[in-house]
Amino acid sequence: MIHIPKAEYTRRRKALMAQMEPNSIAILPAAAVAIRNRDVEHVYRQDSDFQYLSGFPEPEAVIVLMPGRQHGEYVLFCRERNAERELWDGLRAGTEGAIRDFGADDAFPITDIDDILPGLIEGRDRVYSAMGSNAEFDRHVMEWINVIRSKAHLGAQPPNEFVALDHLLHDMRLYKSAAEVKVMREAARISCAAHVRAMQASRAGLHEFSLEAELDYEFRKGGAKMPAYGSIVAAGRNSCILHYQQNDAVLKDGDLVLIDAGCEIDCYASDITRTWPVNGKFSPEQKAIYEIVLASQEAAFKQIAPNKHWNQAHEATVQVITAGLVKLGLLQGDVDELIASEAYRAFYMHRAGHWLGMDVHDVGEYKVGGEWRVLEVGMALTVEPGIYISPDNQNVAKKWRGIGVRIEDDVVVTKQGCEILTGGVPKTVAEIEALMAAAR
Ligand code: GLY
Ligand code: MN
Ligand code: MN
Repeated sequence: MIHIPKAEYTRRRKALMAQMEPNSIAILPAAAVAIRNRDVEHVYRQDSDFQYLSGFPEPEAVIVLMPGRQHGEYVLFCRERNAERELWDGLRAGTEGAIRDFGADDAFPITDIDDILPGLIEGRDRVYSAMGSNAEFDRHVMEWINVIRSKAHLGAQPPNEFVALDHLLHDMRLYKSAAEVKVMREAARISCAAHVRAMQASRAGLHEFSLEAELDYEFRKGGAKMPAYGSIVAAGRNSCILHYQQNDAVLKDGDLVLIDAGCEIDCYASDITRTWPVNGKFSPEQKAIYEIVLASQEAAFKQIAPNKHWNQAHEATVQVITAGLVKLGLLQGDVDELIASEAYRAFYMHRAGHWLGMDVHDVGEYKVGGEWRVLEVGMALTVEPGIYISPDNQNVAKKWRGIGVRIEDDVVVTKQGCEILTGGVPKTVAEIEALMAAAR
């Protein structure tokens, strides 16, 4: 299995600590277990920030980073080994495993955190944490601070600065290392296989969930624990619902099906959309719309390179889509004016992409100092233009209504431009029709 090597977690912690102010401490909690219903838990997914810094896969754990601390800069609080609990729920690393296998300098039972952590915070000037995103943990941090404050008359020194960790950590996460790109390539490879399999299985009379099952099969077979987000399998008019999740309609002859799905490998997402005809052959209207979306995506790729700014790819898609819609008579008027008045938004109402990484909509600022961010090597993003003609749009001829097309790929910015991670699934009309014909 391709995964992030242990040395990389060490490097990340060191890089974060190098950016923290002197005499500071960072505290991060693991994700909580989410209950699905009575005695049943959701599949556990570690918090992305926590995972990024530790690779530690268990709940009920807290990372503490103290740059410059003589007795060890990295302390992990975690669950202790417990033969009875492990019999029911599976193995735990325990404090020894935290040190031996996860590189902690020191580890303590999570049950002792209230006794130990105030002593580690005491004397540090500044506390970094993900303030505001986890109310319960924020309250714990304040309780630990208050323990120190209550001993001020004994000379205890509480910290007086509280800083959001996100700014430093999320900027680090925005730049993908070689190891991260390798894992993302693997997630992309498996997701491409899943889309190909769903294309091959596509038949009128099946349900949307039949194709979702094909995706899930490839995801699991490839070693992915779960999809990176709820798979969208949207046939016919459902393709015009951007975050469609129902996935239970019948696939009809003559309709398109839009699938937006990707798996997660070692907590790294892929995010692919393909749109194809259920019966394997595009109608003239479907093809006309499809070709515009594809051309807009090609135009966007050309705008992804170091020193181009974040919005250039989006602007390229708007240009091609608006011109294309005018050519088909779906919009009337001057292309530049239609862009200025955002008339295209009736058909293309989302942006061309987002950062991609451990979170499918990954962290990282899109603007810096009020200006669009300039792309740099290692940034990963999606390119996903679309045209959606509402089934209720009375301004267009009936033959166009209910057509929804999105094409989405994942890219990483390279020195020369960008690497497309998700090239392994057909995209042109000819390629898709050939692949589907061969599967009939
Ligand atoms: N799958 C969600 C998105 O494409 O952003
Ligand atoms: Mn996306
Ligand atoms: Mn998507």
